Amino acid sequence: MPEAVALLTPVSIAGAAYIVAALLFIMSLAGLSRHDTAKAGVNYGIAGMAIALVATVWATFAGVWGSPQASVGFGLLVVAVLVGAAIGLWRARLVAMTGMPELIALLHSFVGLAAVLVGWNGALEETGMTGALLDIHHAEVFIGVFIGAVTFTGSIVAFLKLSARMSSAPLMLPGKNVLNLGALVAFVALTVWYVIDPALWLLVVVTTLALLLGWHLVASIGGGDMPVVISMLNSYSGWAAAAAGFLLNNDLLIVTGALVGSSGAYLSYIMCKAMNRSFISVIAGGFGIAAPASSGEVEGEVREILAEDAAELLRDASTVIITPGYGMAVAQAQYPVAELTSRLREHGVEVRFGIHPVAGRLPGHMNVLLAEAKVPYDIVEEMDEINDDFADTTVVLVIGANDTVNPAAAEDPGSPIAGMPVLRVWEASNVIVFKRSMSAGYAGVANPLFYRDNAQMLFGDAKQRVEDILRAI
Ligand code: TAP
Repeated sequence: MPEAVALLTPVSIAGAAYIVAALLFIMSLAGLSRHDTAKAGVNYGIAGMAIALVATVWATFAGVWGSPQASVGFGLLVVAVLVGAAIGLWRARLVAMTGMPELIALLHSFVGLAAVLVGWNGALEETGMTGALLDIHHAEVFIGVFIGAVTFTGSIVAFLKLSARMSSAPLMLPGKNVLNLGALVAFVALTVWYVIDPALWLLVVVTTLALLLGWHLVASIGGGDMPVVISMLNSYSGWAAAAAGFLLNNDLLIVTGALVGSSGAYLSYIMCKAMNRSFISVIAGGFGIAAPASSGEVEGEVREILAEDAAELLRDASTVIITPGYGMAVAQAQYPVAELTSRLREHGVEVRFGIHPVAGRLPGHMNVLLAEAKVPYDIVEEMDEINDDFADTTVVLVIGANDTVNPAAAEDPGSPIAGMPVLRVWEASNVIVFKRSMSAGYAGVANPLFYRDNAQMLFGDAKQRVEDILRAI
């Protein structure tokens, strides 16, 4: 019995808590994969994180409790957590749904920075290791710093692009693929060198190289492919955390990092498939993607429609499909859109929604907004389910969508978004486009839909225009 008690050290108790936390994280991922279990998934994640934090803090101080170093260390930790939590709460409360992807990109950059700092700390501290173990430690330091630094600058560029502080057009440096490949080869060679001779200047070189590579990889990706980049950086941040876990000898960080890394990679793969992009090409910073051949300029005449006339068209329609996009989120037009839907359905008009997989600025963005406004799930359809039905539809309402309904993707092989599957709204008898101006969407590509004979523009804020239609109906 006393032996069993002796086995209950702070480290072994924390290890047991880590297994429980890891299981909760796996249950959280499973829960998040479906609408009806998503809330439970979030709760499992919160519970797992709470257990992990308490166990880590307790195991760190249990052995040295009462000593002066422990008091200073614990004091510093409490201050850091309080400051971090206060900033986190403040930002999270302020952020609009449309600003979520840039906040996530910024948070990924912190994970990358943390991995770089942990790596540098691992290089500077005395480990007491010798022989093969020390070689492995050096390799861990080098790889951790590399992945962390790529994630750090890559995420900062993603943040700048998503918040429109930097152009969303791809940076096309001459020989960009050779630059990326050269950086990878140099990284492998430097890792071998560092393991043989762990000189600090090598760590400075790899940190600089990785910071530049991260910047270049993400800057080389065009606006339309940004959704894939976000999930790819999510994956990188997971691997950076796992690398830090090896250095800190923390099993939970390794498991959690691997979960985030692999689920992020899988999400990137699904998104690439949905957008008809090569996965390898996107993770390699746009490898093999040539500069767009066409400028996307469109000329022609645009027809305008007033809300009263749109209301009349809708009243007389038998089938209506609404395709929402980022502009619906900006205008917060989901509530009047939901009311318009129920009014039209009362009039006997069949109304459905067509959702593009990357509409808005984050996966599932439109579904969340429509659910918030209580639009019934069964009339909200995915692009693949609804795309063949546009040809038999009387009126399509394009509410704040642009890239996701751009015919150039299907018809102009030289367009920057060529090959990306889009909602074929132009096949309907009438298309009404709600937006404020003739400006391009996120990918910066002009949209020939606005000049089609069956399309009419309803200019103005989407919420106000839908409310105008409601009044007229
Ligand atoms: P976008 O192509 O971004 O176009 C949105 C349109 O909404 C704009 O053309 C804008 O035109 C209009 N708009 C903005 N505010 C409005 C308001 N208050 N009232 C009415 N209209 C308004 O939208 P989309 O079709 O949803 O495409 C999404 C794009 O974002 C894709 O290129 C996608 O790759 C990219 N992206 C997606 C994600 C994810 S995961 N979903 C993440 C990052 C990037 P005006 O300025 O003329 O009003």
